[in-house]
Amino acid sequence: MKSIIRKIFGQRFIENSYHSYLRFREKWHYAFIYPILLKIPYAPNLYFLFSKSFGSEMKMFIGARRDYLKKQHRQQENLFLLRRNIHRIEKGLIMKNRRKIFALDYIEETVFLLQTLVNNKHDNLQIQWAFDILTQYFEVTASSPKRDQAQHIFKQLSPISHSSKTYAPFGVSENTEADVNSFDALVRKRKSVRFFEAGKIPDRTLVDKAVELAGLAPSSCNRQPFSFRIIDDAELARKMAKLPAGTTGFSDELVAMVAVVGQMNVSPSLSDRHLMYIDASLAAMNFMLALENLGIASCPLNWPENKTKDQEVRQLLSLSEFERPIMMIAYGYAAEDGKLAYSVRKPLEQLRKYN
Ligand SMILES: Cc1cc2nc3c(=O)[nH]c(=O)nc-3n(C[C@H](O)[C@H](O)[C@H](O)COP(=O)(O)O)c2cc1C
Repeated sequence: MKSIIRKIFGQRFIENSYHSYLRFREKWHYAFIYPILLKIPYAPNLYFLFSKSFGSEMKMFIGARRDYLKKQHRQQENLFLLRRNIHRIEKGLIMKNRRKIFALDYIEETVFLLQTLVNNKHDNLQIQWAFDILTQYFEVTASSPKRDQAQHIFKQLSPISHSSKTYAPFGVSENTEADVNSFDALVRKRKSVRFFEAGKIPDRTLVDKAVELAGLAPSSCNRQPFSFRIIDDAELARKMAKLPAGTTGFSDELVAMVAVVGQMNVSPSLSDRHLMYIDASLAAMNFMLALENLGIASCPLNWPENKTKDQEVRQLLSLSEFERPIMMIAYGYAAEDGKLAYSVRKPLEQLRKYN
């Protein structure tokens, strides 16, 4: 049938017709369907109801959430949660105006998580880190029923020690690497810094240099769907520092901020919807390493989905409707008296698998 049609009308005619059909379909969508979908609440949900691409993501999310909650309820091993909780505690420990008691919401859970891992004979630097952080936590926090109960369980666990070093918070001056010109040393030296020298804003020529290097990161089809919005005005930076939830306890210490902004309108394909997150994150890493190489410290800050906050930042930065912050980055010169969290990493065998 195809060959008969081709013979009667000619290949060129078929190709042109198909091309016209595609153009018509696109026009129909952008001029008619999409404006309607954008106007009616929940219409986009219905439109994507049978989308295979979104569908598999939703299914994966439900499965992953189920697995996470199941582990939590049955007190099964959950290294992700242990790492998160221990990091939250180490952050609490480095705060300048440290509270007498903190982490009450999750201290018992954390100790139970550690207990499960120790009982299951987990034994690596992450476990030593957890012991070091919890030891310091119980040393410096005030008594309270939940905390004391957790301490009681913690004391019954046998401490694990892999090195004489402690993985508790350490000073900025102790963060030394012999040769910062080597990539290896540069990556090892970069740490998230949350306390900056007041009133000392890095020169724009240096920041621009780091942005240029960020722009050299690879991006899908070289679309580069991101930009760096730099806030080095003290007043604006102060406002912006308070927006991310993850700056609680140190937002007043931040002197300059960057919003790494992703741009969604760079591809019509649903399967490309993660591009801006991937590309912007690769660029953000180049940016932070470039800053580090210039002696400027930084801290990436989470920007989770939150309608109200999105609205605030949208106004503050005059973002277009297709732009969205992927993350924030605080930057500046590290305060000498500020402490750093160790944040021990997964060992190589948990990090990679060949073939
Ligand atoms: C996407 C992203 C979001 C982050 N959000 C926060 C945050 O909201 N608050 C914070 O204090 N640290 C935040 N961090 C810093 C991490 O806690 C830190 O990178 C991790 O513990 C490893 O420590 P290091 O960066 O010092 O090596 C974030 C890091 C990333 C990559």
